[in-house]
Amino acid sequence: MSFFRRFSTIQASCKPPPVRHVDRLKVLLTREQIAKKVADLGDRITRDFEGESVVLIGVLKGATIFLADLARVIRLDATFDFIAVSSYGNSKEHSGEVKLMKDVDHSMRGKNIILVEDILDTGLTLTFLKRQLLGHQPKSLKIAALLDKVSRRQEPIHGDYVGFEIPDEFVVGYGLDFAERFRNLPDICILETGGEMS
Ligand code: IMP
Ligand code: MG
Repeated sequence: MSFFRRFSTIQASCKPPPVRHVDRLKVLLTREQIAKKVADLGDRITRDFEGESVVLIGVLKGATIFLADLARVIRLDATFDFIAVSSYGNSKEHSGEVKLMKDVDHSMRGKNIILVEDILDTGLTLTFLKRQLLGHQPKSLKIAALLDKVSRRQEPIHGDYVGFEIPDEFVVGYGLDFAERFRNLPDICILETGGEMS
């Protein structure tokens, strides 16, 4: 079987690609469930901002796939921007410190910002980014997060457009990574590993 055929088969069944120290990937949310939810979120955003323009600000890199899909179901005048913060590195635990690695390219003054994030976990990242972006004096600022691990929250922050509340499990796929891997899995899967991955 060709490499491409083999890779497609792996993706389709959400089985782990050949990576060391990965024990198991278990599907939590299928691509069909995700597509339906993203369409619902797009409808809500379209209704809420009728007649207005929005700026979708994606948090690199995890939110890229969610942003790409969400943008195409929002029927509004929309532009994109991207922002990046320090990541978890190769660990599953938040370092507790958030550092801005890349700011937005344009001023957000007077704009309707929709901050697009893959997952709300401790809330440290979005609390930091919200404060950062409010400094631009936007007209409005909303948060769209595909996933929400409510039980892990350390900061009192909530998403305005939340896809799924999920249990306290480490998930990958649909943009979410572990040590930069698995972002291209089309389903969202629970990753069960020993911890660090080389
Ligand atoms: P927070 O600052 O703890 O809310 O974390 C948000 C960021 O942590 C997200 O943008 C993700 O990049 C990352 N993250 C949190 N939980 C997971 C997970 O289960 N899988 C992959 N990344 C995660
Ligand atoms: Mg992220």
